[in-house]
Amino acid sequence: MARLAVNIDHVATVREARGIDEPEPVLAAGLAELAGADGIICHLREDRRHINDRDLQLLRQTVKTKLNLEMAAVEEMVRIALETKPDLVTLVPEKREELTTEGGLDVKSNPDHYGQVVDRLKGGGILVSFFVDPDPGQVETARSCGADIVEIHTGHYSEAKGETEAVERFERIARAVERAAELGLGISAGHGLNYFNIKRFSSLPQVEEYSIGHSIVARAVIVGIERAVREMVALVKDF
Ligand code: PXP
Repeated sequence: MARLAVNIDHVATVREARGIDEPEPVLAAGLAELAGADGIICHLREDRRHINDRDLQLLRQTVKTKLNLEMAAVEEMVRIALETKPDLVTLVPEKREELTTEGGLDVKSNPDHYGQVVDRLKGGGILVSFFVDPDPGQVETARSCGADIVEIHTGHYSEAKGETEAVERFERIARAVERAAELGLGISAGHGLNYFNIKRFSSLPQVEEYSIGHSIVARAVIVGIERAVREMVALVKDF
């Protein structure tokens, strides 16, 4: 039985579009937990475009399941992680100009650096996951750097045009998952997964956890708008 961890970044994205105090990502996290989520994920980006330091503090104080902090493997973030102590850190690549995380971490490009970051985080009692492309070589290097978990990047699969490409990209994911399982790593998957393209993963029981944000927040807007409008209509109708 796989677990679901919910990424609440885009609740904060809507808040930041107005620069005010709603919607509150911390409330969304609590409701996600009440709905059965097994974990809450947030990405503290260098530019604080959605989640900010205050959100992270409050999430640490309130999340009852498991708090997974996505972050770049840079000094500022390592320091924040060691102070905040999320249950898990997921190391991701980060570019200022990107709309969202664009690819997996190229662990092979600098294993010494990533190994040192892992040692520091684990020294602080934090589990470490590496977000990697579905490439068995990256999975192996993540393992040798001391990763506890690999999160396999499903973004390319989610962007596949047509069934043939989707099958081919899913098979790459399956091969990377197989290698991670052989190495005894914890296995997650995420990025771009939605209510349709997730179905194929029923054939991959080795994936223990799914990390999903955008499609859940997008659906929340659509399934919630009717109720939200009814509530405002009720307020104004007798004016
Ligand atoms: N996993 C990682 C490492 C991510 O960076 C993101 C996006 O923040 C996700 C999962 C969730 O992706 P999505 O929002 O497309 O569900």
